[in-house]
Amino acid sequence: MALTERFEIADKTEQNDLQLDRHGRLRHLLTLQGLDRQLITALLDEAETYLSGDGEPVVRGDALAGRTVANLFFEPSTRTRASFDLAGRRLGADVLNLDVNTSSRKKGESILDTIYTLQAMHIDIFVVRDAQNGVPAYIAKHASDHVSILNAGESDVSHPTQGLLDLLTIRLHKGGFEGLTVAIVGDIAHSRVARSAAEGLVTMGVGDLRLISPASLAPEAGSVPPQARIMHDLDEGMRGADVVMALRIQRERITNLEGIPGVDEYFAHFGVSSERMKLAAADAIVMHPGPMNRGIEIESKLADSPCSVITEQVRNGVAVRMAVLASVIRTLGAQ
Ligand code: CP
Repeated sequence: MALTERFEIADKTEQNDLQLDRHGRLRHLLTLQGLDRQLITALLDEAETYLSGDGEPVVRGDALAGRTVANLFFEPSTRTRASFDLAGRRLGADVLNLDVNTSSRKKGESILDTIYTLQAMHIDIFVVRDAQNGVPAYIAKHASDHVSILNAGESDVSHPTQGLLDLLTIRLHKGGFEGLTVAIVGDIAHSRVARSAAEGLVTMGVGDLRLISPASLAPEAGSVPPQARIMHDLDEGMRGADVVMALRIQRERITNLEGIPGVDEYFAHFGVSSERMKLAAADAIVMHPGPMNRGIEIESKLADSPCSVITEQVRNGVAVRMAVLASVIRTLGAQ
């Protein structure tokens, strides 16, 4: 459902004023922009405490006992929605998954009236995904002092918990970020995943960040960190990479398909394949945020190969969302 409300969009400074309290604690999670290395490291460290042995279920806790989390997804989701649901429950919260298609938003209720209504039912944390730029910050600005807003995917702008789970996955495999070469490949122009990953990787001090796409899917100037190298040759971009992240073409956000390569042409020039992985470092890992289009942006057998960490990303997503939920609840409790 398209949101047609008009609202002001917070700039970077305002977003940061909203998402951190006066002691620098995480109050809302709206973007990775402006979060410093110390805070991101603390979130990754806490997320690791929720991971148990390889392949085993995450550790549970009671940090959210007596609390209520509401998932408001105004765009489709499998991974993010399911993992916020599980993360909340595994920390002892009640979790409400609002069915947007049968909610009163379909009758024209505004997003703020929806929030005010649920706020009156003592929701503590709203997890929000929306197709429109600025919605999480807009809600954070107008919501009651006793609630926290978590951005679960905002237009093509930001997906901060995806960025954190990508950072955690890289850290678990590579031990850190400094000196690493990371190649993010695909539809950079429309990817909130690429933007949040790039913001987090730059803050964490990654050595060489390469954003590789067809010219028609390159990011707009100023929409990605200036430290990133914009490239259009995949072979050159993958050479020596320690981490290769493939992205799908975000067709739902593309209004004009002119200049966008067809499927076969796309895979030939921008598909991440086993053959191309020979150009990367010998111990390189392959990532994908999902959902994958096998055979378009990534070769199917590569996605299932030993160098693929795609299912680990999903597992780490639950732990990261547990850490974020616990963190904002501590901040709310300290106020
Ligand atoms: N990576 C990601 O956001 O996946 P979903 O759309 O399934 O949540």
